[in-house]
Amino acid sequence: MPFQVVIPRETVAGETRVAATPDSVKKLIKLGYTVAVQSNAGQHANFADEDYTSAGAEVIADTAELLAKAGIVLKVATPTDAEIDLIPSGAILISYIWPAQNEALLKKLAERGINTLGMESIPRLSRAQKMDALSSMSNISGYRAVIEAANHFGRFFTGQITAAGKVPPAKVMIVGAGVAGLAAIGTAKGLGAIVRAFDTRLAAKEQVESMGAEFLELEFEEDGSGEGGYAKVMSDEFIKAEMELFRQQAEEVDIIITTALIPGRPAPKLILEEVVKTLKPGSVIVDLAAEQGGNCECTVPGEVVTKHGVTIVGLTNLATHAPAQASQLYSQNLVHLLTDLTPEKDGEPFINMDDEVLRGATVVKDGEITFPPPPLKSQQDASAKKSAPAPEAPVKPEKKPMSGKAIAGFWAIAFAAMLGLGQVSSPEFVQHFVVFVLSIFIGWQVIWNVSHALHTPLMAVTNAISGIVILGTLLQLGGVGGSGLILALAFIGTLVAMINVVGGFYVTHRMLAMFRKD
Ligand code: NAI
Repeated sequence: MPFQVVIPRETVAGETRVAATPDSVKKLIKLGYTVAVQSNAGQHANFADEDYTSAGAEVIADTAELLAKAGIVLKVATPTDAEIDLIPSGAILISYIWPAQNEALLKKLAERGINTLGMESIPRLSRAQKMDALSSMSNISGYRAVIEAANHFGRFFTGQITAAGKVPPAKVMIVGAGVAGLAAIGTAKGLGAIVRAFDTRLAAKEQVESMGAEFLELEFEEDGSGEGGYAKVMSDEFIKAEMELFRQQAEEVDIIITTALIPGRPAPKLILEEVVKTLKPGSVIVDLAAEQGGNCECTVPGEVVTKHGVTIVGLTNLATHAPAQASQLYSQNLVHLLTDLTPEKDGEPFINMDDEVLRGATVVKDGEITFPPPPLKSQQDASAKKSAPAPEAPVKPEKKPMSGKAIAGFWAIAFAAMLGLGQVSSPEFVQHFVVFVLSIFIGWQVIWNVSHALHTPLMAVTNAISGIVILGTLLQLGGVGGSGLILALAFIGTLVAMINVVGGFYVTHRMLAMFRKD
């Protein structure tokens, strides 16, 4: 009998997401599971019970009846005590758990023998990106932050020139260019604003600039990159310099979106009340770090307040403001996780504790609390590689440049050979021979010094040269009374030049095909 995957309706106030969509239900069934969804589970995300039924799920109204059938429970919000009591022991629960902050919850889950995987605990490895719910939700929050800012900002984002006068574009500053920050940059740029961003991780500069925003820099030699792509705590001097930067920027910008976080710590306070006073009246701050205390001193978590003429949006969990999109991405993350849990696609889950991703996510297994997981081996290897002295590269024997004497000797011999040749052959031959030698020399110099990026224009030039060659060789081929040697050389010349021309057309055709949409 295949395992039953059950999806209860979320009970926490304000939780609008659902852990499965009709689309993800189909994918779960393909993994060999049977699926049951609680009635009205998808109501906030606009998924009707009938949609789940047509996707192949059973719809059950009663929570106790639904959970009693559970082999696997998929949820969004951390489970309540009442829900835990209804889940059969030995079942697998997958939802947000936040194990570091929820010790009592972990104990209860272990006592009840519920094998638990926390979606926030999935390690940050490239392989696990498709299951990374934190990133999926941050992406939505970044987008929503700009929409919230636009909602409270009494002006356009884009600049306009109208008959009535000129409207300057809004200036937006984004603090923290992680997943949410980059999504906010993209959205604000899309609305036409001038966007600047700052991050302590130097790696963020390139990402910010590639999205068309300006990266604000400090004259400070300190990189904030910590483990797993997250930021580390910066020195007091750095934070001071950073706050001074924001104070200066506050005189110019209209909107500030803050996303600066350091895992497991309260959010750094970066926008002080005196900076809020510096902002123009009507400006907006959206503080995405509100849940961890906020990056702005004036933020009230969960609320929208106005201080010193500035609207400060401290709403938490902005992803719940886009329930359909958030449910779609979260449920996809779950499908990917279940795909790894069900390697045989036979509806039989297996928590492989040798798999780094599954091990990292598992916080309770067989009645034991398994949090925190051991450090990731792949990251240990990476940091060991970083700290180990780099292996010495084999020393290439340096090419000695030719000495002045050797160069003079070379030219003297070449000149003497030319003179000798002039004595034994006709002046016409010597003339052609000099052109021949010089063209080999110049051709060699030109082609060998061309960088790879310029090989396409180089190909065009060689094709043009081949055209000239063909013209010459065809004239020779058609010549009356030519010797056999000349005919053979002309034939080879035509053939080789033709290969170059035809090959050029073929390569161009293939390159153009890469840009064709259909
Ligand atoms: P986050 O939500 O923990 O932090 C947000 C941003 O705040 C980070 O970019 C951080 O550098 C920045 N920050 C911290 N202190 C700051 C300060 N004092 N001033 C200014 N900025 C500050 O991080 P998030 O967005 O979840 O991810 C950060 C990075 O992690 C990503 O850009 C990516 O490189 C990496 N990542 C890797 C993943 C993977 O490999 N699976 C998945 C997601 C992210």
